[in-house]
Amino acid sequence: MSRIFITGVSGYIGGDVLYRLSKSNLASSIVALVRNEARAGRVIEKYPSVIPLIGDLDSTAAIQNEASKADVILHLASSNHFPSAKAISEGLSETGRKSPVWIQISGASLLSGPEIINNAYGEARLKVYNDLEGVDEVRDIIASNPKRAVDNLVTGLSADQSGVRTAIIYGPMIYGLGRGPVNQRSIQLPDLAKATLQHGHGLHVGKGNSIWSNVHVSDISRLILMLVAEASNLSGGSLWNEHGIYFPEARKQSFKEIGRKVASFAHSKGFIKSAHVEAIDAGTADRLTAHGAVLWGTNAQTSGCRARQLVGWKPEGPSLDEEIPRAILAEVAAKKDACSLKLA
Ligand SMILES: NC(=O)c1ccc[n+]([C@@H]2O[C@H](COP(=O)([O-])OP(=O)(O)OC[C@H]3O[C@@H](n4cnc5c(N)ncnc54)[C@H](OP(=O)(O)O)[C@@H]3O)[C@@H](O)[C@H]2O)c1
Repeated sequence: MSRIFITGVSGYIGGDVLYRLSKSNLASSIVALVRNEARAGRVIEKYPSVIPLIGDLDSTAAIQNEASKADVILHLASSNHFPSAKAISEGLSETGRKSPVWIQISGASLLSGPEIINNAYGEARLKVYNDLEGVDEVRDIIASNPKRAVDNLVTGLSADQSGVRTAIIYGPMIYGLGRGPVNQRSIQLPDLAKATLQHGHGLHVGKGNSIWSNVHVSDISRLILMLVAEASNLSGGSLWNEHGIYFPEARKQSFKEIGRKVASFAHSKGFIKSAHVEAIDAGTADRLTAHGAVLWGTNAQTSGCRARQLVGWKPEGPSLDEEIPRAILAEVAAKKDACSLKLA
């Protein structure tokens, strides 16, 4: 059993991981960074054995201290907060544990560069990135992108600290209802559903031909738990460090198709007047959701062979098509809740 330090437990991904951890026998203790007492209260209410560490991602001394004591660090609060990642690496440099493991969340927009550079939002690009046979190419993309400071820190850490093992999980479009204690909602699909309801018709960026891979949140958390289990196996060399790059995915779909299916279901239920789908530009997408042009208008097609072949993971959750009706109904319910709060 491992002593676990986790961040982001009140969030979508971290919450689903905490749900699974609490049902496993993998943790001897779970210390969770939470922003304040109110958040801690909501976490402990459901998971009384969790030890809250009150602080934010800039509480670097506390993060460093916990990282130095943990067998497994799950940094799931942020893919790009450098000071917290640096604090983890510094904690690991003074670790008292044998070969500790750091699992870091990241995002598949790593692969979106060509659309961003060429302002080609909504255009198709058929390249599929493979995390096993193609890992050298992925590593080159990470290394050539100075904005990916956290990714570079994580993938390069073992060169300086030989006893440490790292893995970085590139989430594609993650969908489905999370099971954590606070936020259970993702971003890409829910915000597209919300914007469709607001506009009264479907939406896609540009021609809508760009494609992302996707996966259910329960499959992401299962992979993370499988890696936590692997942490106690000291021989799994190709799971970690320069090899420890994971692209978990179940299927792929273009945003045109997703926009059409969202509009079609919303129209069939009478939530919107028209099932037709309109093109929006990148600026409009950015106004509808943070980084909307990247999240709805670029390509990030991946093949998650490493987890399948070396960890025995495979996606088991419902498909994106199965999720679309639930996501729309959730947005309709959230809108009703917001209205009744205003009236109260
Ligand atoms: N959802 C996806 O589809 C997806 C896919 C790939 C990558 N990612 C990335 O993975 C990360 C987590 O995503 P998510 O969907 O789980 O986000 P989320 O639901 O917004 O959760 C974020 C979590 O991190 C905590 N947090 C954020 N900033 C913090 C700070 N300054 N100090 C302390 N705690 C802080 C939040 O705490 P509070 O509850 O106190 O705010 C919450 O627990 C993000 O960087 C996201 O971009 C997400």
